[in-house]
Amino acid sequence: MAIESTCDETAAAVVESFGDGVRVLKSVVASSVEMHEKYGGIVPEVAAREQIKSIIPVITEAMSDEEVDAVAVSYGPGLMGSLLVGVETAKVLAWAWKKPLLKVNHMAAHVMANWILAESDTVSQWHTDTVPELPAVGLVVSGGHTDLILMESLTKWTWIGGTRDDAVGEAFDKAARILGLLYPGGPEIEKAASKVTEKEWKTNKNKFKLPRPLIHDPGLEMSFSGIKAAIARVVESKEYKDWISPFGDQRPYQVGNDKTNGVRFLDCARNDELKRNLVAREFSEAVIEVLVKKTMMAIEQYRLKSVVLAGGVAANNKLRETLKHEVERAGLSFHVPELKYCGDNAAMVGAVAILRREEAELDLKPEPSLATV
Ligand code: KG4
Ligand code: ZN
Repeated sequence: MAIESTCDETAAAVVESFGDGVRVLKSVVASSVEMHEKYGGIVPEVAAREQIKSIIPVITEAMSDEEVDAVAVSYGPGLMGSLLVGVETAKVLAWAWKKPLLKVNHMAAHVMANWILAESDTVSQWHTDTVPELPAVGLVVSGGHTDLILMESLTKWTWIGGTRDDAVGEAFDKAARILGLLYPGGPEIEKAASKVTEKEWKTNKNKFKLPRPLIHDPGLEMSFSGIKAAIARVVESKEYKDWISPFGDQRPYQVGNDKTNGVRFLDCARNDELKRNLVAREFSEAVIEVLVKKTMMAIEQYRLKSVVLAGGVAANNKLRETLKHEVERAGLSFHVPELKYCGDNAAMVGAVAILRREEAELDLKPEPSLATV
């Protein structure tokens, strides 16, 4: 039985070992994300209080009457208040049930969500019944991390690249805030970007250009802190403020003719939405180009068999599709967790517990700044 409580999700799962991978018997996730929406980001105190409210009901729902062999918990990285709830609960359960306590690194859990097997009837393009072949490179993209990890075995991992400043998820969240979209920003930006038609994109894609930081740099380092300032500059520019959808555009709601008096009018709300969506699309294109380029560079530098994508930002369809296409074209296999295992969940925690089986003492303490490797 695995517990996850690093941030604003409270989750519990029951998993079992199956061949080289892991099967999920039950996975329950409660989220306090809506409570943070109005603040435009996570409020740690609110997140911790919600963890306390949800932890017992979530575990009870996940457990039914199974007998478990061990209790696993993510002990970092994450928010101290949130982590304490999961870690203390796991310790008490392990002690009461007289079962081993297994400690799990939350970032390793995101990566190892790729070892969760599909039931044979749910095998799809994104969810396979085979585990990634090693050596592999892991691209870990979340709200707090952007790392390229060389994985030679299930435990021998080396950091080979990643962001030198902000995480890419954080950049999505900040970009969304600048564009007046809700928190969490990733899904909102993706939604806005996908509303731009190919025709609109073709005509306007050079209007609001954003940088592709370090894309031509030979190293595997990335940087996403500058791109937020670049968005802010675009949104405050005269070009953006005065931008009007080209008259040639066929969409009648943008620019129309008032037939009764012959005066042309502009639907400002639609126009504003379109230009905001164009910037959201440009932002997605820019960060995805960088992530894909750096991953492909890692493939060239190391002898690898597969690429695994992981973390909350791995839910982004454009990123999944573009990376899959490029990786498979290079002759490697590509893996990404099913959507429900991309964001924080406990099934992935159970996967690490089974595959690495790291036993902990009952005095285990949360480690808010635990490194990925
Ligand atoms: O891994 P995660 O659930 O939490 C941690 O940070 O550990 O990742 C959350 C991050 C947020 O920054 C969120 O905006 C981003 O993942 N995210 C996305 C998408 N869904 C979630 N970013 C881009 N596109 C998405 N569809
Ligand atoms: Zn996470």
